[in-house]
Formats: sequence, C-alpha cells, structure tokens
Amino acid sequence: LNTPKTGIQITENEMKMQFAKVQNIIEALNHGEGDNQDKGVPMLGWQTYARDITPAEIQKIQDAARNLADKCDVVFIIGIGGSYLGPKAVIEAVYGKNYNDVLKTKLYFIGCDTDPDFYAHCLKIGEDKNCGVVVISKSGTTTEPALAFRFIKRLIEQRQGKNAKDFIIAVTDAKKGALRQLADGEGYATFVIPDNIGGRFSVVTPVGLAPIAIAGIDIAEYLSGYKKALPLIDNPDAEKNPAALYALLRFLAWQKGAAAEYQVTNSAFFESNLAWTMQLEPESEGHYGHGLHVVPAVFPRDLHSIGQLIQQGPRDLIEIATKILTPRADLPVPLYADDTDELNYIPQNKLTLNDINKMTIDGPLAAHYADGVPNMTIELEKITPQNLGEYHYLLMKATAIQGYLLGHNPFVQPGVQFWKDKLFKLAGKPGY
Ligand code: PA5
Repeated sequence: LNTPKTGIQITENEMKMQFAKVQNIIEALNHGEGDNQDKGVPMLGWQTYARDITPAEIQKIQDAARNLADKCDVVFIIGIGGSYLGPKAVIEAVYGKNYNDVLKTKLYFIGCDTDPDFYAHCLKIGEDKNCGVVVISKSGTTTEPALAFRFIKRLIEQRQGKNAKDFIIAVTDAKKGALRQLADGEGYATFVIPDNIGGRFSVVTPVGLAPIAIAGIDIAEYLSGYKKALPLIDNPDAEKNPAALYALLRFLAWQKGAAAEYQVTNSAFFESNLAWTMQLEPESEGHYGHGLHVVPAVFPRDLHSIGQLIQQGPRDLIEIATKILTPRADLPVPLYADDTDELNYIPQNKLTLNDINKMTIDGPLAAHYADGVPNMTIELEKITPQNLGEYHYLLMKATAIQGYLLGHNPFVQPGVQFWKDKLFKLAGKPGY
C-alpha cells in the first residue's frame, strides 16, 4: 500500500493570472456593487459600518450593556448562526472558554439548541436569580431562538413582573419581523441590524457589540481594529491585499479538486473563532455545488485524532493556520532532579511552554506539507479586541471575494431556507 504524496498544487503564475479579475472584484465590492451571477441586493454594509457608526451610537450600546450587566446575575444571549457566533468568538478569545469563571455577570449562549435537557438546565441556572436577555434575530422569525426567548421571557417575567421589559434587549431588523413587533409592543430596548448586513457578516453591528460590551470588552477598541484593517483589505491591488490572496488560494485549491479546508490553531482561546469561520465560509460558498468543507482543529489536541487523516488520508485538502505569536502568559517548564518523564531537556534547552506550543503547529504543518497538504498562515501578534476586529474584516472580505470568484451571491442562503420550510411542515406550522 502506498500513501499518495501529491496533493493540491498552486503555482505563483496561476495566482498572477487571476490578479486582474480579483482587482475588479475588490473594486466592485468597494463601490457597493454586486457583480455576481444571481445578483440580488449587494449586502455590503459590513464594509463601512465600523467607519460610519457614531460615538453616540457606540455609547448607547455601551450604556445599555452596562445597565443590564449591573442589575443581572445572569444574561442569556439568544441567537443562532450569525446571530451568536461572532460575539461568542470574541468573548472566548478574550477570556477563554471558561469566561464565566472571570465574569461577574454570567453569560449563557442559547437559542441554537432545541434539546429539552439543555433548556431545563438553563432554567435551573436562572432560577432565583436576576436574569436578563439579549435576543438577537435579524429576521425575527427563526424558530430556535424564538422558542428560547419564550422560555427566558417567562423566567424573567416570573421574577420581575411588570418590570420584565427592563431586563430585555432585542437586536433585530428596524421594521420587519415578529421580534420587532414584540419589542415595539412591549417596549424593550432595541438595536438595529441594518438591512444591508446579513447574519454571518454582522459581528461588527450590535449583534456582536452588545454581548461583547456586556462581557466588559471595549467595543470601541474592537471597532478601531476593524477600521484599521480597511485600507489594507480594501486595496484593489490583489498582490498586496491579504484578503485577496487568501480568497484566491482557496479558490484555486477548490478549482483543482480540494474538498476540505482544515482551519487550525494552537490557541485554545481561539477555537470559537474557527467556529465562526466554519459558518462564514460554507454558508457563503455552498451554492451550485461550490465550496470547501471547513473543518476546525485545535493543535495539538486534534492531531491525536484527525491528524492521521490529514497526514495520510485523501490528498484533497488544504490547511489554514491561525497562530497567536505572543500569548498573554508564558510558563517555564519545571526542572526535576528525577527526570523519569524525560522532559528536563525542555528547560535545559531553554525552551518555555510557548516555544513548545509554537512547535506543535509548525512541526505538523511541515509534516503535512511534506505529504502533499499545502497551507497558509495568518499571524495574530496577540489576542486583543483590536486584532480580532482586524481578523474578522479580513475573513469577511475574503469570503465576499471568494463568492464573486465562484460567480454566485455569497450573501444569501436559500439552502438553509429549504430545510427550515421542511421543519415548519413537520411541526404543522400554518401555511406550510
Ligand atoms: O448568516 C446567516 O444569515 C444565518 O446564519 C443567520 O444568521 C441565522 O439563520 C439566524 O437568522 P436570524 O438572525 O434571522 O434569526
């Protein structure tokens, strides 16, 4: 048995031949145009939102968030897909997965489950506590978050009575949808998701900003990073634009038969950002038979499982690594006179835990490359709200470019609507 060694190969010349096309795409995007095949509304508001939001609007989000956090022991963030992945990614990157160990007001992301055991558990958590909620839904009609809101609304009403509305923030469309109707009718505080920004591109709007402000993260800092990225990422000169290169490499890899993209990192704090990417890219690309399967992996953990398949499985994959260069803390490895576990060589070679952590991504990437898996790397100097803002804009722009290269509208998801309708039919919703 021989393991095939030859994987996806892309030459510099193949890249260069696409630069003029990519330049046109970036210019079209920058001018708010859609040159995609199935036209539709160019949902491009995420390109300018961070620049256009006023200090007064930022302050309003911060004040509402502080007010809710101050009076609540627990805040439930309700949303699904693009209506929760972005803020969760930022909060986990800043505080780690166990963010509730450091936050005074505990946060629970719900609305993407319909598991009764999970809801019973959440209601137990909220029992006898001051609970608040940020309910996020652009359409305002998505079943899972709407169901979650019913349960949490009842929980809050049972404790707060007629003041319940002061514990509820709704983030939704300016005019349309059941959530907008409910919010206006009951007098909840509301923030708007603009018409021209779709769910998976909405982390920069109150969808992301309200929850991250409740977690005490400086939203102005996040927005400043996002804005800082604009000149670089909007640059039509494809060769100098990392979003263009990112999109082009993925596009060419797909054209040459790549089926899967492993999104890898060696930062446990960064894992939720890979989950965010796992929505952003496939939901935007998976049309007309296009698209790569995005598989998130944290190294070294997942090397001990899918690492085998990456090394010696089908050669139809690429790897995209995100490395955090400087961790918040570094640890020297303790030296023991008794070296039974044979680890003394690490401190003796003057290596710290971070040095080992870097090797657990550099080593495997090199090994995978040797067996035919091409890769590219994004480096974040540190995890800060500012760098996360830059990172999100890079990936969103790259996803838009990629959609236009594939020749379809990356801002719609008709396939998602298809199964939503099936679910309504199964549950006997009137009209389905
Ligand atoms: O990216 C998208 O548009 C989707 O993933 C939506 O965010 C998700 O379906 C939730 O929709 P809504 O915010 O309308 O409840």
